[in-house]
Amino acid sequence: MDTPRTIQWIGGTDGFARLLDQTLLPEKLEFRDCRKIEDMWEAIKVLCVRGAPAIGCAAAMGVVLGMQTFNGKERGSYRDKLCEVGDYLRSSRPTAVNLAWAVDRVQRFLEPYLEKEPAQKLTQRLLDEALAIEEEDRQMCRAIGKFGAPLIGEGQGVLTHCNAGGLATADYGTALAVMFSAAEQGRTFRVFADETRPLLQGARLTTWELHHRGIDVTLICDNMAAQVMREGRINVVVTGADRIAANGDTANKIGTYGVAVLARAHNIPFYVAAPSSTFDLSMPTGDKIPIEQRDPREITHGLGRCIAPDGIKVYNPAFDVTPASLIAGIITEKGVIQPVTTEKVLAMLG
Ligand code: MRU
Repeated sequence: MDTPRTIQWIGGTDGFARLLDQTLLPEKLEFRDCRKIEDMWEAIKVLCVRGAPAIGCAAAMGVVLGMQTFNGKERGSYRDKLCEVGDYLRSSRPTAVNLAWAVDRVQRFLEPYLEKEPAQKLTQRLLDEALAIEEEDRQMCRAIGKFGAPLIGEGQGVLTHCNAGGLATADYGTALAVMFSAAEQGRTFRVFADETRPLLQGARLTTWELHHRGIDVTLICDNMAAQVMREGRINVVVTGADRIAANGDTANKIGTYGVAVLARAHNIPFYVAAPSSTFDLSMPTGDKIPIEQRDPREITHGLGRCIAPDGIKVYNPAFDVTPASLIAGIITEKGVIQPVTTEKVLAMLG
């Protein structure tokens, strides 16, 4: 079974975005409609829609929501409002560059038309571009699957962290695309999914997606990865990414760096799968990638009850940065970057 649509635009310029509410999975499969830009901001913030490419698509649709009520008589103020809407959406989550990339892209796309066309026409163009971003993401994910599939051999064990599947993209995923594609090519293999504390994207979402596609998946707690590697059950690690610097340093869900260190210690290749929209070539290294800090309650109350003393200090970074030196290759829609160096990244991304 395919993963249900993560994100969908319903109707024309006066329409709305329909999101699969990922906070409720796997218990409930429900959709949440975003009819105002504030709805979309909130949906991104609370991880109703999540995963770098998916929040890029969502943000582009959020721009349409922000502009669809614009009825100003002067053209100039369409531009002002567009800037305001973009800044607002960018403030929702800072780490995944796809979000800012998508907002920048729709804004840039509109630039030549801003002083020339009526608001309704401009908003139609925004919608067309948002839908183009979604469609391109779909295609990029398929291509990532195709390039990554040969990395998984018959009978092997694969470890992944967080969720980089169809739920995290327009469709099909990045890290999970590699697995879906290997399975479609007829190989059997076993996936170990880290649960991914504190919000359990691995337990709730990755196992759900793999299971629905008939792929053998075993859930482990994050702190079991070393033991599972030591037992010789893992041949390759594949994760997604939220932002990749020009030298290949990669921000991804908190815990990814630890998995990469473990993989190196056990001589297991560690791969990252991501589309070109996840690269931030303005950053030479990953040192300055902004790391989102989230609500302490995700840790103290994340399992449905209070699991720490009241008032205890909590540190909750949502992402970490894996140095390029620990990454065997980056699987993109254009091919696999290997070895991971600035020269190779620039050569692949042109
Ligand atoms: O906080 P999240 O759930 O949005 O974090 C998601 C991840 O870290 C994914 O691995 C990443 O965005 C890649 S999704 C294809």
